[in-house]
Amino acid sequence: MTSTNDIRRSFLDYFAGAGHEPVTSAPLVPNNDPTLMFVNAGMVPFKNVFTGRESRAYSTATSSQKCVRAGGKHNDLDNVGYTARHHTFFEMLGNFSFGDYFKEQAITHAWTLLTKVWGIDPGRLTVTVYHTDDEAFDLWRRIAGLPEERIIRIATNDNFWSMGDTGPCGPCSEIFFDHGDHIFGGPPGSPNEDGDRFVEIWNLVFMQFDQAEDGTRTPLPKPSIDTGMGLERVAAVLQGVHDNYDTDTFKALIAQSVSLTGVAAEGENRASHRVIADHLRSTCFLIADGVLPANEGRGYVLRRIMRRAMRHAHLLGAADPLMHRLVAGLVQEMGAAYPELGRARALIEETLLREETRFRQTLEKGLRLLEEATAGMSEGDTLAGETAFRLYDTYGFPLDLTEDALRAQGLSVDKAGFDTAMAAQKAAARAAWKGSGEKASETIWFDIAEEQGSTEFIGYTADQGEAQVVALVRDGARVERATTGESVTILVNQTPFYGESGGQSGDAGRVITPGGLSARVTDTVKPLGRLHAHQAVVEAGSIAVGDTVHLAIDLERRGQIRANHSATHLLHAALRNHLGAHVTQKGSLVAADRFRFDFSHPDPLTPAQVAAVEAEVNAHIRHNDEVTTRLMSPDDAIEAGAMALFGEKYGEEVRVLSMGLSDEKHYSVELCGGTHVRALGDIALFKIVSEGAVASGVRRIEALTGEAARLWLVDRDEKLRTAAQTLRTTPDELPGRVATLFEQNRKLERELADAKRALAMAGSGSGSDAGAGAGQPETIGSVTFLGRVIEGLDPKALRGLVDEAKGQIGSGVAVLVAVSDGRATIAAGVTDDLVGQYSAVDLVRAGVEAVGGKGGGGRPDMAQGGGPDGAKAGAAVEAIKVLLAD
Ligand code: ALA
Repeated sequence: MTSTNDIRRSFLDYFAGAGHEPVTSAPLVPNNDPTLMFVNAGMVPFKNVFTGRESRAYSTATSSQKCVRAGGKHNDLDNVGYTARHHTFFEMLGNFSFGDYFKEQAITHAWTLLTKVWGIDPGRLTVTVYHTDDEAFDLWRRIAGLPEERIIRIATNDNFWSMGDTGPCGPCSEIFFDHGDHIFGGPPGSPNEDGDRFVEIWNLVFMQFDQAEDGTRTPLPKPSIDTGMGLERVAAVLQGVHDNYDTDTFKALIAQSVSLTGVAAEGENRASHRVIADHLRSTCFLIADGVLPANEGRGYVLRRIMRRAMRHAHLLGAADPLMHRLVAGLVQEMGAAYPELGRARALIEETLLREETRFRQTLEKGLRLLEEATAGMSEGDTLAGETAFRLYDTYGFPLDLTEDALRAQGLSVDKAGFDTAMAAQKAAARAAWKGSGEKASETIWFDIAEEQGSTEFIGYTADQGEAQVVALVRDGARVERATTGESVTILVNQTPFYGESGGQSGDAGRVITPGGLSARVTDTVKPLGRLHAHQAVVEAGSIAVGDTVHLAIDLERRGQIRANHSATHLLHAALRNHLGAHVTQKGSLVAADRFRFDFSHPDPLTPAQVAAVEAEVNAHIRHNDEVTTRLMSPDDAIEAGAMALFGEKYGEEVRVLSMGLSDEKHYSVELCGGTHVRALGDIALFKIVSEGAVASGVRRIEALTGEAARLWLVDRDEKLRTAAQTLRTTPDELPGRVATLFEQNRKLERELADAKRALAMAGSGSGSDAGAGAGQPETIGSVTFLGRVIEGLDPKALRGLVDEAKGQIGSGVAVLVAVSDGRATIAAGVTDDLVGQYSAVDLVRAGVEAVGGKGGGGRPDMAQGGGPDGAKAGAAVEAIKVLLAD
């Protein structure tokens, strides 16, 4: 038997051999189409190549693309489990020509691969063409030699394929396999076509148009080819089975759920095993591609799929959560072709276990309520919408789960009633909002959120993508359009732009359209915590509500923000390690160029502590471990050791970031909605640039990472070099040189002071108005007087010198004036024997007046004062002499 993995390989090898570029499957979340929930066909990643907006280095390609059809135009969820071929997740094999070959080559390739390479009996193949496509009809006759009755013209949309309401489209030709007359059904277009005998296995689309929203079609730049073959269907054909669920991959998955539940896949349990196998695949692939369960948007589609499977696990009587135990088997079956499954395995298992554990808490009660509500109903009856809403609102039953649960009894749900109940709940929330006295400026956001739902953030995994404009706000009012030169706040249905929150700055970037719009987003904020409001300036063209726009964040800036944000987590952990568990985050600001982190700690950090913290953070950066994100309930997260911020409000689900390893545990585990590096090495370098106090008991560290940290070090190095050059040494020798110079300087200062003293006492002092106080003791009346003016003397030395002078003269009055920096400082001393006769204070005051000062003070034997007019120092000595002479 050819395995599904072999068939995939052989398809890709065939087309690669025919010159097609093998292209890895794109992630399930499309980033090039705002109207698509998930990639639902092989051509989606190439959409812009078909329309000519994007060019690639190749003109033909082949891929095996992951697809999910569980929302939007192509939605198969309701039927999964009950039919042979419906799936929420499937793989589409395809070959593509972007203006290279067209119909003839496409048909030739298809026929060759099916009948020659894979050896399918041509007698079992039938094809359809669009009713007006004579060209395709003739090609099938010529190339495949098919008789006319097996080339069926179809007039309906079945043979005109389009990706969605807009986008590339064209007539198509489908290839059917006849599973044999033991199965009921007729060929396509026949009255019995809905039977299951003829199964479409390959669709060749002759891409010719781009469909606009209003339905008009413009020709593509060049006719192109898009083909899609369901791998599961062709595996059934090549493995000789009729039912996709009987192929090797599904048999292996179902065998697992059979063995774990001990319930055979028979009778009414068959559907449950199929639902579990199918939903396991979509769930695992979605989580691996970054979708996590949520109450809105893509996350809610995932949750619906997960819970639908979980109800079936419950139906099979699984006593404990089941889904997470099936992941290993899936990785074994498909992990080689899709390595992302293996990489995300831990995250997938954890997410499934948490969701199932949580859902089980309400599942039983909800099912009981459902049982009571349907008791006495009979086939064809309808469950009240009100009840379905209660199940949704209180017990977490998505509507399709309730419908699925009623299916076996032939009951349905009053959907209109469900919608009415939902609308009533929204109206009540609105009334409560209006009554809460919020500002009018906030009401505008509330209205937008209510009308359009929350903005879906796709920026954890994507940095650009398409979106639809849902509202524009200008000067506090909603507008329909904004044009060149205007500032406008743009709201879209989904965005890669992070809205400022949790200390992390909002993203900047660009919004453009092929129609010529170019708007610069300077910041993104997050009103109500659930809308992403892009503050923009329209630099060219215009933007209107309803437009499809391309959003691209400023990657370099976000890269720096990521590095800084992850570094705050490492810093937090390092501080706790080195300072103690009392350290908790008190606030943070994560910008592109720097970050700061406030934390509780009573004392300044010592240089040794700063160095140790810095070293530890850098060691983790160098170790380059991957950063992992998990989604948990806040309680589980805290139990798992996550650091939660006190006083912070967390939703029912939180992202938990784990970084680094220490003693076989994660080094840092924190609840955080921010964006982070993929692996710690992306931070590159961490440098603390300041540490100080912000409030009592709260310290602040400012730090840099990556290029900013490097530039900071370069700048420091530059300063060091300059300083070294000035001191005529090398940076290495600089500290020794500075210490020596410092010592020398101190020594010189001391020597200078000694020299000045010696000079002063040697009696050769001089005044600027020389003559006065030439230096030798003189006699005034009966008193010995010594008066000197000393230039450049430190005033602090005065008192000591006056004492010395007093000693020299034995009995008398000594007056010394120090002139430094233009100021005069005067000290007068009276020997003890004359203290009754003269007061040093009075003498000083007379001198002070002469140098333009006021006052002066001290004791009768020693006083001091000063004035600004140093040039009059000599006059001050004279004035004192006059006083003595009186
Ligand atoms: N895009 C085509 C399909 O999905 C091939 O059927």
